[in-house]
Amino acid sequence: MTALQLGVIGLGRGFMLTLPALLRHPRIELAGAFDLRPGALARFAEEFGRPGYAEMNTLLADPTIDAVYIATPHEYHATQTIAALRAGKHVLVEKPMATTVADCAAMAAAARDSGRVLVVGPSHGFDEQVRRGAELVASGCFGSVRLVTALNFTDFMFRPRRAEELDSSRGGGVVYSQAAHQIDVVRRLVGQPVASVRAMAANWDATRPSEGAYTALLSFAGGATATLTYSGYAHYDSDELVGWVSELGQPKDPARYGEARRLLATLSAGDEQRAKLARTFGAGGTLPNAAPHHEHFGFILVSCERADLKLLPTGIEVYGDATREFIPIDPPEVPRAAVIEEFADAVLDSRPPIHDGKWGLDTMACCTALLQSSRLAADVDPRPLTIASGE
Ligand SMILES: NC(=O)c1ccc[n+]([C@@H]2O[C@H](COP(=O)([O-])OP(=O)(O)OC[C@H]3O[C@@H](n4cnc5c(N)ncnc54)[C@H](O)[C@@H]3O)[C@@H](O)[C@H]2O)c1
Repeated sequence: MTALQLGVIGLGRGFMLTLPALLRHPRIELAGAFDLRPGALARFAEEFGRPGYAEMNTLLADPTIDAVYIATPHEYHATQTIAALRAGKHVLVEKPMATTVADCAAMAAAARDSGRVLVVGPSHGFDEQVRRGAELVASGCFGSVRLVTALNFTDFMFRPRRAEELDSSRGGGVVYSQAAHQIDVVRRLVGQPVASVRAMAANWDATRPSEGAYTALLSFAGGATATLTYSGYAHYDSDELVGWVSELGQPKDPARYGEARRLLATLSAGDEQRAKLARTFGAGGTLPNAAPHHEHFGFILVSCERADLKLLPTGIEVYGDATREFIPIDPPEVPRAAVIEEFADAVLDSRPPIHDGKWGLDTMACCTALLQSSRLAADVDPRPLTIASGE
């Protein structure tokens, strides 16, 4: 196989964010698309000279398509991934992998049974500073990892949203959409199974009715712990702690404080849906500008026995016993390249991916444990959840 012929299912905001990396990768060719919006399909055909299919099954039946990237709303990930794997396609599926552990287990099993590759991403677990941080931790040069402190304060809940993004029963709220990133980050850094989750998740705003904030303590099987804090309530902005660089690696102007809430206050429910749609492919959405810095997921400090490592979009600050040193990281050529590279390498070179179906399943088990722990006010071990699901 020379270049991977990739079909896209779901031409929304997630697709727009991944598109630059897809276009830049030398061994990927966009080969077709399926979406419910005919306008987006027409635009895809016009821009890339490859077909937009009116039915997903027609795309999946096309023998020239090797693989698909699934970027539809969460609730469709499981059925579409399983259908694609059964049709013999390799799959890159957006985070969160699905909205239940049972669905994730079925997806992982379908990948195993079909012998096809399944990668879950993009997530911020792929960020370059996380990869480098994980490499430093695994090298043991600073002793064992003891504690990861991860916190992120954003305006997630006040960006224009589809109705289901604010409905917990359909995967809405910050646990599915945002803890999936933060858990990926800390799991990759620590490199041990999560043995226990103690958490509080909460909805503090009746106008945005799903979990908008959480705090969680993760204990790892090897003895490390991680504290995770997230708020999407658009007050404090933790991008301040990483040099006013946005999640997407762009410089951020602190003077624009309160913008998300101000904009939302001017929109009716119908306007909000239209504003969300306006960010999709073929409906006015534009490619992200070239980012001068790496993407990131807030403040992350990794405490090892002999040093604390602060992960930044520009590099890693190492606070050692006697000295403090900054390890710079070259700026990205294109955002999210690592995700596409991991997927292409897995399919074309049979290199086992890190973020495979089992990885995604384990992250979903942690998200589920987080919600359960909050409900029960008790520690929850996420491992039996995946065992109960047969994986
Ligand atoms: N990794 C990231 O940083 C990131 C960023 C944005 C979105 N995402 C993920 O991408 C997924 C989509 O979110 P979004 O923000 O792009 O949503 P969106 O509303 O912008 O786009 C969804 C797209 O899927 C299409 N669609 C809806 N139902 C469909 C179906 N049944 N079959 C085919 N197409 C369908 C819609 O027409 C739309 O084009 C979510 O799972 C989200 O978590 C991830």
